[in-house]
Amino acid sequence: TTVEWEAESYDMGGHDTYMHKEISEQPDAVDRVLRGRIDDRFSTVRLDGLNLDARDARTIRRIKILGCGTSYHAGQIGAQLIEEIARIPADAEPASEFRYRNPVVDPDTLYVAVSQSGETYDVLAAVQELKRKGGQVLGVVNVVGSAIARETDGGVYVHAGPEVCVVSTKCFTNTTVAFALLALHLGRIRDLSVADGKRIIAGLRRLPEQITEILAGEDEVKALAGNYADAKSMMFIGRVRGCPVAREASLKLKEVSYIHAEAYPASELKHGPLALIEPALPTVAIVPDDELLEKNRAALEEIKARDGRILAVAHAPQERADHTIVVPKNETELDPILMGIPLQLFAYHTALALGRDIDKPRNLAKSVTVE
Ligand code: G6P
Repeated sequence: TTVEWEAESYDMGGHDTYMHKEISEQPDAVDRVLRGRIDDRFSTVRLDGLNLDARDARTIRRIKILGCGTSYHAGQIGAQLIEEIARIPADAEPASEFRYRNPVVDPDTLYVAVSQSGETYDVLAAVQELKRKGGQVLGVVNVVGSAIARETDGGVYVHAGPEVCVVSTKCFTNTTVAFALLALHLGRIRDLSVADGKRIIAGLRRLPEQITEILAGEDEVKALAGNYADAKSMMFIGRVRGCPVAREASLKLKEVSYIHAEAYPASELKHGPLALIEPALPTVAIVPDDELLEKNRAALEEIKARDGRILAVAHAPQERADHTIVVPKNETELDPILMGIPLQLFAYHTALALGRDIDKPRNLAKSVTVE
């Protein structure tokens, strides 16, 4: 069973759906997760609820992030941010898998449970298993005082505000920003330079305005969605930083439009999925302007050679793509936070074109609080 959806709890504010409202609220939501936390004096952030002293923060050998669904994907971006900014080995795993595999709990690993609702049973059960075995667990949670927030030793609240639509948008974005804060905090306790700290802070401060800029392109994305709504299936690809962005965009499209979508690392295309490429299977490619740009362009070349249609999300128009959604550039580490946002609108407008029940997709629930 699942928790019932409570629509009456807050109003739609002139939008036709909660999903559209919540996508539109992202500049304000990101502003909220940053507010009061930036410490310019030490080029770091203050995270009052973390309960992790600097001495302990220096001895962490690994970080393991656990979540389900969209929160798991936010955790994958979080792992990337932590590795890049704090240089601590990190990875994310579905909490639902972790809890059933009799996990080895390592005293030098910091565990982080991620959940919008703070009530997802598989995540809560993973936290309880970890605590039973003496693991140290933090939470990255949206709902204040929720079960996971209470069971964890400390954490970072996401401050996205209430999210009603079953599929998560603003909470996903805010969770990735919360991970950037955690990464910066840990990085500055360890070996991240003042200059890099300042650079990341400046990048974080640009996010709300850049999200506003992305949202201003909604009409263009809407027109594109009309071109792809007849697809039976879509491929989403990305490499390293782009990979979790592709995974989340693929999940969003399938949840809300019911179009089958598959996400794959661009680097793995040649090991199988290339066999699927043909005009009827469009590809959405995440192509950030980073050190892997040429590699990503080569993947677009491979797809084009097989007459595949390509929609790119990039920092400049891509010659091999049929369409490129151009997004503003931030610091390389933070770019994944922005690149998925136009694809939330893409999923939304595709679902709208197909007449789907956007706020309450069939078979899905906002919170899954039992096994
Ligand atoms: C459900 C929802 C998803 C959500 C997942 C985890 O499956 O339909 O949208 O990502 O639960 O929820 P949580 O509240 O733990 O982030």
